[in-house]
Amino acid sequence: MAVLGVLTAGGDCPGLNAVIRGVVGRSVERDAEVVGVLNGWEGLMNGQVRPLDRDDVRGILGRGGTILGTSRVDPYVHGDGLASVEGTVRRTGIDTLIVIGGDGTLRSALRLQEEGLPVVGVPKTIDNDIAGTDVTFGFDTAVEIATEAIDRITSTAESHNRIMLVEVMGRTKGWIATYAGIAGGADAILIPEVDYDLEAIAEIIRHRHRHGHSYSVVAVGEGVKPPDDDETEPEVDAFGFARLGGVAYRIAPVLERLTGFETRVTVLGHTQRGGKPTAADRVLATRFGVAAADLAIDRRSGLMVAARGTEIVPVPLAEACAEIRGVDETLFGVAQTFFG
Ligand code: F6P
Repeated sequence: MAVLGVLTAGGDCPGLNAVIRGVVGRSVERDAEVVGVLNGWEGLMNGQVRPLDRDDVRGILGRGGTILGTSRVDPYVHGDGLASVEGTVRRTGIDTLIVIGGDGTLRSALRLQEEGLPVVGVPKTIDNDIAGTDVTFGFDTAVEIATEAIDRITSTAESHNRIMLVEVMGRTKGWIATYAGIAGGADAILIPEVDYDLEAIAEIIRHRHRHGHSYSVVAVGEGVKPPDDDETEPEVDAFGFARLGGVAYRIAPVLERLTGFETRVTVLGHTQRGGKPTAADRVLATRFGVAAADLAIDRRSGLMVAARGTEIVPVPLAEACAEIRGVDETLFGVAQTFFG
């Protein structure tokens, strides 16, 4: 009988529980055993595990977070790679480890695979920046939350004749800003992939005011460069990612000065990651979980499940780790059509 380990690592994301449920559901159907690893890589290093069966995953489909817990601990930063996890793997009899994670986690998974631990990856992140898949689960939920925020902020912006900056997550890529900006009808969108010119943004806003729209909403990706030169080294997490958040507070005074219009900032932060997943994310996450279990039970490893068109397909984990996927020009061009 195959024994699958399942682990959620890195930042949490709506839909994690749906993947876990998908893995367990398919495994029970195919007579395989599932070992849940608690608290991400930390749990795998420390031997924190629990068996998972159908009863453990009942009622979790629509729940935010992860029933297994997660951490930003990395076996190659806080341990010796395979050597630090193989004790738990051997003791539990795990044949293949299903790793549900973002780019940092998947890169560690690939290294473990190369060192000899069979691994199957599942692309998770609200940032939607993993290569090899059209989309990651969690992104749809984050966009929904950010869009609702933009809608709400638009009505108060209008009442007060203000410029409102709405800062969204996404790290070095502007997927959430672009999607939520388009969906919420933002008057301008700033993303890390495209250099911005605050004088040009100020002119868009002044133009709106001249034409009777005395308020504006700007969606800001958290990873955009600050307008001022700041030499301070950012804090980084275990995977070496800069800790972001708050750049809109540095952009706001510049826009206020350039336009003369009162400006406010809202940073959406972790609200974008919490709470229940959308129906689309529940379906995608369930399909990923089932496909990952199938690969693991069939002893196919070194792969990641990916969405391509209407299909869920296996792609080499190395392909997913080769780059961080950004917003393409065509999509951003659509957003720019509606600036102003
Ligand atoms: O990668 C997901 C993400 O939510 C990013 O969008 C954000 O910059 C980061 O994680 C926040 O990380 P933490 O939860 O460690 O503050």
